[in-house]
Amino acid sequence: MTTDEQARLMRANQANWDARTPVHLASRFYGLDQDLDPARWFASFEWEDLGELDGRDVLHLQCHLGTETLAFARRGARAVGLDFSEASVAAARDIAARAGTDVAFVRANVYDAEQALAGRRFDVVYTGKGALCYLPDLDRWADVVFRLLRPGGLLYIVEFHPLLNSLGPKPAPDEGPELLLRHDYLGGDGPVHRDATHTYTDGPAVEGATESYEWTHGIGEVLGALIRAGLTVRSLRESDELPWPRWPRMVRTPSGWWRLPEPRIPLLYGLLATR
Ligand SMILES: C[S@@+](CC[C@H](N)C(=O)[O-])C[C@H]1O[C@@H](n2cnc3c(N)ncnc32)[C@H](O)[C@@H]1O
Repeated sequence: MTTDEQARLMRANQANWDARTPVHLASRFYGLDQDLDPARWFASFEWEDLGELDGRDVLHLQCHLGTETLAFARRGARAVGLDFSEASVAAARDIAARAGTDVAFVRANVYDAEQALAGRRFDVVYTGKGALCYLPDLDRWADVVFRLLRPGGLLYIVEFHPLLNSLGPKPAPDEGPELLLRHDYLGGDGPVHRDATHTYTDGPAVEGATESYEWTHGIGEVLGALIRAGLTVRSLRESDELPWPRWPRMVRTPSGWWRLPEPRIPLLYGLLATR
């Protein structure tokens, strides 16, 4: 796929995220109508891997409403959130202001992040939980991340495991609680095109730009892109828990997150790499 074609599909995604934003703001999913607790979006292993954030420059790529970005600021980081959706960035600024938390938000495509941040470098780049699937080219992305990091800086990706994305319920008319391997684990066959008026939250229907494009990235592809960019992979964790119940049969764990009762499979991974 040419870079022009990639740019066209990312423009469609940008319009789709602008259209999804009011739905997410009206939903209960992000807890905006309750006591905002940004830390609930993080597994305890994430904080272990990230280490001390006080006084560090942390960049959150594809931050959406900035609900996770706030958690970095609350741990003393100089936090910056970046997202290409104008509506998301406007909402994120508003949410942070109402929470009385000091976070800067920048509107830009990840691929243009260096220019948008005027060459600023970071101690930590964090991304994930539904971010990499919107990126058509991981090699190009990893090169950008490398340049955004100071020497010694760390990249932390916490992403839905490709195995989770491969699962789906039995198609009608046999629908039931069982999950089957229904979608590709490995990428390479171009984007998955969606046209949906629903999003992953509750709330009203999405209006207007309902089309979006997602790319499948296996773990090997992610690791390969990081290594080729010159980053050193330090750790890879696989977790069977998710912050919300993706499937009706998931059960709550003592941590307050959710897992499948059986079999025990990875649903989320945390990958730490350094420059
Ligand atoms: C599912 S959210 C992930 C953020 C966060 N984990 C969350 O759940 O709120 C995906 C975000 O990626 C953003 N996004 C998608 N493609 C992007 C790109 N190429 N550059 C910048 N942001 C992008 C969207 O606007 C959206 O806000």
